[in-house]
Amino acid sequence: MKHINVTKNSEFKKIFFESYKNIDKANNIDELNNLKTKYLGKKSFLKMQLKKLPQIKIKYRKNISILINNIIKKIEKKIKIKKITIENNLINYKISKEKIDVSLPGRNLKIGSLHPINKTINIIKNFFFKFGFSFKSGPEIENKYYNFDALNIDENHPSRNYKDSFWFDANNLLRTHTSSVQIRELKKKKLPIKMISSGKVYRNDTDSTHSPMFHQLECLCIDKNINFSNLKWFVYNFLYYFFDYNIKIRFRSSYFPFTVLSAEIDIMMNNNKWLEILGCGLVHPKILKKHDINTDIYSGFALGVGIERLIMLRYSLKNIKLFFDNDIRFLKQFN
Ligand code: DAH
Repeated sequence: MKHINVTKNSEFKKIFFESYKNIDKANNIDELNNLKTKYLGKKSFLKMQLKKLPQIKIKYRKNISILINNIIKKIEKKIKIKKITIENNLINYKISKEKIDVSLPGRNLKIGSLHPINKTINIIKNFFFKFGFSFKSGPEIENKYYNFDALNIDENHPSRNYKDSFWFDANNLLRTHTSSVQIRELKKKKLPIKMISSGKVYRNDTDSTHSPMFHQLECLCIDKNINFSNLKWFVYNFLYYFFDYNIKIRFRSSYFPFTVLSAEIDIMMNNNKWLEILGCGLVHPKILKKHDINTDIYSGFALGVGIERLIMLRYSLKNIKLFFDNDIRFLKQFN
């Protein structure tokens, strides 16, 4: 039987110090696991020595066994502590990577806003809603009945001309005005009517103040005893509300097939010139009768106005195309 010499103590010391040194140097869990296998694994020097204990002289056996087990315990503890250190470092590293510098200025998110046309429609809605009007919408593709016939517009009226409007076929076209919504409302046969409508309309016309597509606002009020002074009150107060109490307003007699008395409204410009902005009148009794309305009891007024025109006047804009270019520098001035 081969006996291990006690002087092998120095071998144990060597292993012990070497393991400590290497464990200190370990940079990650993998390295540490490798060291654990090297020093404490089944085939490690220390475990082999434990196995060989029975070969040692009995008088040394106990001490050697204590020595080996102490070293194993110390190495185990050392590895455990190192493992915690490595894990903590890893966590700290991750935290430092993910750290948010709360003092950094935030990214400037630009918030969108309503287009000036929609904004204006809302301003106008607010005015009419106060007087009990409600909003109705109608289709942009109309047939000639709603767009012309039912509004008493003659077969030969120039607005029916193929060159002036956008026709799909002999019967259907892009609506040329929002007055068609008046008829859609009259068809419901519910009185009184207090409605406004607004939306896109289309005409074959283009220059700095005309666009093939623009927006109109329509108003229709039908009730008992409606007369021209009611219309006048609404027109004056709407324009005062939208522009200013100091504006000068002029009623000029005019003609629309769907109204009688008809008027166009002008306002005085900065250059002392009158500019037409709105069409209106008392609803033609013919139209009311067609919808079984007793014109001895009921009468009504209607008005129609171009939205872009209103905005151009209010802000002294020269070109209607500004509304449709969607240049952010223009749009943000209305925020
Ligand atoms: N529909 C007309 C146009 O497009 C405007 C208009 C005039 C509307 C008189 C009305 C009205 O309701 O009474 O030019």
